[in-house]
Amino acid sequence: MPLSFLGRTFYRFISLFFSPGNTQITLEYLILPHALHRHGGAGFIGSNLAERLAYDGHEVVIVDDLSAGRWENIDHLLVHPRVTFVEGSVTDLDLLMEIFPDADGIFHQAAIASVPRSVADPLEANEVNVTGTLNVLWAAKECNVPTVVAASTSAIYGDDPTFPKCETMVPRPLSPYAVAKLAGEHYGKIFTDLYGVRTVFLRYFNVFGPRQDPNSEYAAVIPKFITRLLGDKPPIIYGDGEQTRDFIFVADVVRGNVLAMESNASGVFNIAGGSRISLNHLASILAEITGIHHRPIYEPPRPGDVRDSLAEIARAREAFGFAPRSTLEAGLRETVAWFRDGGR
Ligand SMILES: NC(=O)c1ccc[n+]([C@@H]2O[C@H](COP(=O)([O-])OP(=O)(O)OC[C@H]3O[C@@H](n4cnc5c(N)ncnc54)[C@H](O)[C@@H]3O)[C@@H](O)[C@H]2O)c1
Repeated sequence: MPLSFLGRTFYRFISLFFSPGNTQITLEYLILPHALHRHGGAGFIGSNLAERLAYDGHEVVIVDDLSAGRWENIDHLLVHPRVTFVEGSVTDLDLLMEIFPDADGIFHQAAIASVPRSVADPLEANEVNVTGTLNVLWAAKECNVPTVVAASTSAIYGDDPTFPKCETMVPRPLSPYAVAKLAGEHYGKIFTDLYGVRTVFLRYFNVFGPRQDPNSEYAAVIPKFITRLLGDKPPIIYGDGEQTRDFIFVADVVRGNVLAMESNASGVFNIAGGSRISLNHLASILAEITGIHHRPIYEPPRPGDVRDSLAEIARAREAFGFAPRSTLEAGLRETVAWFRDGGR
């Protein structure tokens, strides 16, 4: 459940009190090796990343407009003296210019992260995902922040039938969302080449794990399957269920971000499990894990869904030692346990 207004105000106060604007804390803040700013930090991936950074001893400033992010994803972090939350948008360049100067690095996760929503409103997708990313890069350059690690997407590969997908393939974006992410990558390269800001764009494949929202109309398949099963209902599969996906557990995505930040790499990198599984197989594993067995309901395929997905992850391994550590089953067990626990 979201916090009450009073609860939110209390947490805001705590985070402001410990913010770098406080003189005493500013000194402490400046001597820490890393003050890492997170954008889109209240979302699924961002909140997992912010948690890892805070527990690793970094100062973390989370900037999120809470348009999709959830307060309950981060409220446990905000009692942490090293974590500050700023409610604001990446479309607000003045705000970024105000809060960037103390940062050693930026993890940029903020986006309208939905293909159908970008199809319904491409102007909005462009404003947040292109202009927002450009603002982050520009503010980083102006404030002498050396590195930006940003979220990109496998959607950039579109319906190219070649497998596995590797970063040298010609992009075939099929939606405003994918075009916007590709534009972000191109801006990233320009900012590295022209202005010396090191940029790393990570093309995530199908990420899953705790805090992924099962309720949005754009929800991903794993949280939807799990919540259906835990509600004693059959999972719904669009198509024959033999379509495949390359899933990656969120803790491995977080590790990919941290490794990229700590490296000297720049450019575009796939972040994925590096193997694929059909939705029928996924449903049967989840039935085993939950102990709730239902034959899936099959509905007509959805237009625009790709048939198969599989990544080549050698580039990230060679550049910054990335390799997924979690097996699909272990990640699914952790995710099911989190949902069983009431999603907290
Ligand atoms: N989840 C996946 O499988 C996946 C796959 C590929 C790429 N990605 C990318 O990873 C990133 C994180 O995705 P997620 O799954 O955590 O999505 P999410 O929707 O949970 O998180 C996105 C966050 O960005 C915030 N946000 C949106 N507009 C903003 C704005 N104008 N200013 C500041 N914050 C804003 C939202 O409130 C939300 O907290 C996104 O960039 C997404 O495109 C995710």
